[in-house]
Amino acid sequence: MECIREIKKDIYYVGGDDRRISMFENLFPLDNGVAYNSYIIEDEKTVLMDTVDFNVSRQFIENIDAVMKGREIDYLVVQHMEPDHCACIEQLVKKYPNITIVTTQKTVGMLGQFFDYDFEKHIQIVKEGDTLSLGKRTLQFIMAPMVHWPEVMMTYVQEEKILFSSDAFGNFGTLNGNIFNSDIDYKHTWLDEARRYYSNIVGKFGLQVQSVLKKARALEIEMLCPLHGVIWNTDLEYIIQKYQLWSTYEPEDNDVMIVYGSIYGNTENAVNVLANKLGQASVKSIHIYDVSKTDISYIIGQMWRCKTIVLATPTYNNGIFPKMDALLEDMIAVGLKKRTIALVENGSWACMANKVVTAKLEKMKDMTILETKLSIKSSLNKESNIEQFVSEIIESIKEA
Ligand code: FEO
Repeated sequence: MECIREIKKDIYYVGGDDRRISMFENLFPLDNGVAYNSYIIEDEKTVLMDTVDFNVSRQFIENIDAVMKGREIDYLVVQHMEPDHCACIEQLVKKYPNITIVTTQKTVGMLGQFFDYDFEKHIQIVKEGDTLSLGKRTLQFIMAPMVHWPEVMMTYVQEEKILFSSDAFGNFGTLNGNIFNSDIDYKHTWLDEARRYYSNIVGKFGLQVQSVLKKARALEIEMLCPLHGVIWNTDLEYIIQKYQLWSTYEPEDNDVMIVYGSIYGNTENAVNVLANKLGQASVKSIHIYDVSKTDISYIIGQMWRCKTIVLATPTYNNGIFPKMDALLEDMIAVGLKKRTIALVENGSWACMANKVVTAKLEKMKDMTILETKLSIKSSLNKESNIEQFVSEIIESIKEA
């Protein structure tokens, strides 16, 4: 049966929740699934805004049929060609043989790559600022390259001041019937996942996100309709400000996070002693992650939030603990910047972890490595210079 919502007069949500998927892009764990959002605008001409992943295609087609009631879809606006949104394009074109696909030039090449189907007679290419009249409404197209792929665009409905924002302002997690941010406690139930989504999916492309935010600032927006997560119908400035912060790589909180790898528990003990001393010194909100237990995507998400990051790792095969190595490579890949890093190394012989980690941190921009580094031989002892280490960490989280 259909599962639709009218989000504004004659504008319908026709997407679906996917609780069976375990990993987004077969990479990022999804504890609470994900929603693939799609929308229909009914006017003198009818428009479908993107399609969905195959996983929810049955629900999607039932939803479309329920809204359209036998009427044809005139336009399919393709804002993004990642298969979680474009999977049903061929199905739609076969269902509506007169449909026009409104999209960017870059998308056309990708259509040929993803589908063995000739879409040529259906294509209408749009560029930055182009408009399309639907009758009572006008769509305006806004290019958003690299947020998250190069072909991405957004679509603004001028009359209703709605921005269909593609992947931007999206989120992991299913909607569960609460499709508007006004229906939920976003800060406490969605924000961490929004940050994990942002940092891992588009974190690398801060400059491009900045450019889109600049374009968005020039528009009057009353509703944000992303391709994942809740629709923003109130307090839009909250999520826009988060994107402003995240895309400029500024930390959100003056918190300390400690990420460690530990083979037999001795590096973990050093981390516990460190956290205990920080706590005794009234440092609040200390967060500890075992890199062997917590998926990297969650750690990257929290790195986008915290100001000071302690990395503690044993020496391993003349390098560092492999899972810490993977984390550092991901930090480089997503372009994390502007953090203070404190280093803890451990080694029973030929200890060289801090040297290896420092070399990797030097590949990142605007990272400050605290002068005092903790170096442990097998286990922490009274000779370790931990008091100075603690005081430098405390200094680093003081307000400027
Ligand atoms: Fe939701 Fe970049 O796909």
